[in-house]
Amino acid sequence: MPDVRHPLDGYRKILERFEAEHRLRHIPASSEECLIDLLSNDYLGLGRRGTEFTNRLAERYPDVSFSSSASRLLSRYGRMHAELEDKLEMYYGRPALIFNSGYHANVGIVSALAISGTLFLCDKAIHASVIDGLSMSGADYRRFRHNDMDALCNAVTRWKDSYERIIIVTESIYSMDGDCAPLHRLVEIKRSCPDVLLYLDEAHAVGVRGNRGLGLAEEEGLIQEFDIIVGTFGKALASVGAFAIVPDEIRRYLVNTARPFIFSTAIPPVNCAWSSLMFDVAVSMEEERRHLMELSHRLRTGIAEITGTLPVSTSQIVPLVTGDACSATILSESLRERGFDTLPIRRPTVPPGGERIRFSLNASLSLDQADTLLQAIGDSWKKIIFRQS
Ligand SMILES: Cc1ncc(COP(=O)(O)O)c(C=O)c1O
Repeated sequence: MPDVRHPLDGYRKILERFEAEHRLRHIPASSEECLIDLLSNDYLGLGRRGTEFTNRLAERYPDVSFSSSASRLLSRYGRMHAELEDKLEMYYGRPALIFNSGYHANVGIVSALAISGTLFLCDKAIHASVIDGLSMSGADYRRFRHNDMDALCNAVTRWKDSYERIIIVTESIYSMDGDCAPLHRLVEIKRSCPDVLLYLDEAHAVGVRGNRGLGLAEEEGLIQEFDIIVGTFGKALASVGAFAIVPDEIRRYLVNTARPFIFSTAIPPVNCAWSSLMFDVAVSMEEERRHLMELSHRLRTGIAEITGTLPVSTSQIVPLVTGDACSATILSESLRERGFDTLPIRRPTVPPGGERIRFSLNASLSLDQADTLLQAIGDSWKKIIFRQS
């Protein structure tokens, strides 16, 4: 009997392997249960308050369109995009360019900047969208140990004479560990070498850090030092899309070369209108930002007491590393039974051994709820220790 093969066999085998390794992912079903959300990136709690603002949207932008119907380069529906870019320029003091998502922004900008004579030095923990931009464009790049500024300094010294420019790419708050990049050190490195450009992904810091929520660079008084700042609207700002803050010539260059900008229908004007409104609301949410930091401090110190290890986080993202996928799944299920919605984070999102629960805090949580969560973590942690021993 000849071997009967099917063109789908190869894919099926990969799925079977994922399943055997406890890392087969599913899109979570929507839930009617009243769980406390610790999954989403709605850090200011604006997403769950959205309906409070819909009237304001209708008043401010009564005839806003629901589709751009073409790429920005081929459409005359760009008034809202331009208005949003003007607002961002006013806040950040440099031109802005809107992208359809943070993923589009990073892939598009990185691959457009990857011209001959360019070396990218990227933190090991950088987001997949940056890596995809580098791979797609065949860029020259090297990765340095996470947040290791000595390693970065050595790499700059080692490579600066071989390239015309070195672009250092980091996040400000890292999405899985919740720790922050040492922005002042990055600026020192840039000042030591005139060929260095700094690229900062503020996806998890916009809305959350800085007096007006512009990000960690604002908090540290360094906005003007970072040549490219990427922010997203889909996390704390409860919308969708992303923006890049760049010098004028880079903006003009990206309009001509960033393929996701050129070859994709532009984000609908209604989303730009919503982002603009959410941005204005977020700017004034200082009290929520302060509360978020307090919540995060309470959760981190509580987790340290339970597990004996202080999470590396210094932000609203607090990881609890279980070290294997099965323990992360047990922990998540047990927290769900106690009313807290979390999901295990597994490979390939984190490296093997880095499996975890990622607590994504939001300003609508109370300190009492944080304490109840800590009790639930403590009880569930005992189950895991028992299983591992
Ligand atoms: C650091 C970082 N950059 C970029 C992105 C992509 O942003 P978006 O969800 O808008 O595509 C994400 C989102 O997951 C992220 O965590």
